[in-house]
Amino acid sequence: MVGADLASTAWTARAGGGHDLITAVMTVHYLSPAAIHALYAAAREALAPGGVLVVADLMPDDGLPGLMRVLDPGPGEAAAELAWARWWSELSAVPEIGGLMDARAALFRDRPPAGFTAGLSWHAAAARTAGFGEAGALWREGRHAALAACR
Ligand SMILES: C[S@@+](CC[C@H](N)C(=O)[O-])C[C@H]1O[C@@H](n2cnc3c(N)ncnc32)[C@H](O)[C@@H]1O
Repeated sequence: MVGADLASTAWTARAGGGHDLITAVMTVHYLSPAAIHALYAAAREALAPGGVLVVADLMPDDGLPGLMRVLDPGPGEAAAELAWARWWSELSAVPEIGGLMDARAALFRDRPPAGFTAGLSWHAAAARTAGFGEAGALWREGRHAALAACR
């Protein structure tokens, strides 16, 4: 495992290039719009030609042609939120994990999540601006979606 701060692009030096797949799952909402643009550009550089970037996050749909407008929570979202909160709570009770939780809390003490949420079309446009050839919806459930962008 490699620890990396996605708010900067320093990780690319260690990641090298030629990767087939890069994923960011439920993480880009921690970043500012500028940092997301930089992340997508850095991910493109780290991918091999034909490689794919997959970004899954809260991406309430903002009316992409041919897609339903989805701005309200889906039916499973409340249950998923509860399961997520329970998961963190159970994790913090595991003695081996406690130290890591403290280190994580210290890391984020002065860096609250940006809480930036944009529709899938914003992320697709950001990926295209970063030089990806194709970018679009890979998956959606309620307000959550996954973007796939192909180098
Ligand atoms: C909602 S969790 C998702 C974790 C994992 N990807 C998953 O799907 O289970 C978001 C993760 O992003 C991490 N994160 C937030 N900002 C980050 C940053 N600048 N660099 C690297 N990771 C970050 C947080 O520590 C947290 O573990």
